Amino acid sequence: MRAKVIAGNWKMNKDFRQTEELIDGLKKSVSFDLQGVSVILCPPFTSLELAARLVKGTPFAIGGQNMYFKDEGAFTGEIAPAMLKSVGCRYVILGHSERRQFFGETDEFINKKVKKALASGLIPIVCVGETLQQREQNITEQIVTAQVRGVLSDVSAQNAEKLILAYEPVWAIGTGRTATPQQAEDVHALIRKLLTELYGGTTAERVIIQYGGSVKADNAADLLWQPNVDGALVGGACLKADSFSAIIRAAVARK
Ligand code: PGA
Repeated sequence: MRAKVIAGNWKMNKDFRQTEELIDGLKKSVSFDLQGVSVILCPPFTSLELAARLVKGTPFAIGGQNMYFKDEGAFTGEIAPAMLKSVGCRYVILGHSERRQFFGETDEFINKKVKKALASGLIPIVCVGETLQQREQNITEQIVTAQVRGVLSDVSAQNAEKLILAYEPVWAIGTGRTATPQQAEDVHALIRKLLTELYGGTTAERVIIQYGGSVKADNAADLLWQPNVDGALVGGACLKADSFSAIIRAAVARK
């Protein structure tokens, strides 16, 4: 049985003071037993160190929202894996559709980061997902298959087991238009089948596949009930303690 993993992607939100407010709120509202559900907070780089300090002694883990695939050097504006680790990150989101859309990230580029993150001891949360146009053209399967193959190129079975995949249909991100539980399950099952082809059944069964795209307190339970949906990557609804804790609660109930 795979554990459920709920991650909050804060995106470019929350300054230092607001980070403290949100984490204080979360500590109060998530006072129930998580029963093995993992919760990851991914604030902006500027808040990582503070967030890691504030969650000490709580079950929350911290993740970055991006990183570069080099150890150090003249790469203005970039962050190295060791830097993330040094401020207490265990996870890093890679290949988010906003990185693909606004910053031109390709599967090949994301793959370099995935391999580097794994080699550095970080757990990557690797995002894939089709656009609305691609869904309407009925090419979701081809797109997601190519993305998963691309981002996992040269990743061993042993490493694949450690990472998290996030299926995030682009048309559902920040739009309030969530995939139906069945639409999510169909693509998650497809990804699991592909992982079986790539790595064999044992590994495929172990990989956590999160759903992301307008996950809210009122739709989380139905999505998390699907057999191949192992958690959620939450954007908008993770910015308020009450809505994020309600999603965590739904995961605990569906565990
Ligand atoms: P959303 O974002 O929950 O605001 O749709 C999800 C994501 O982009 O990870």
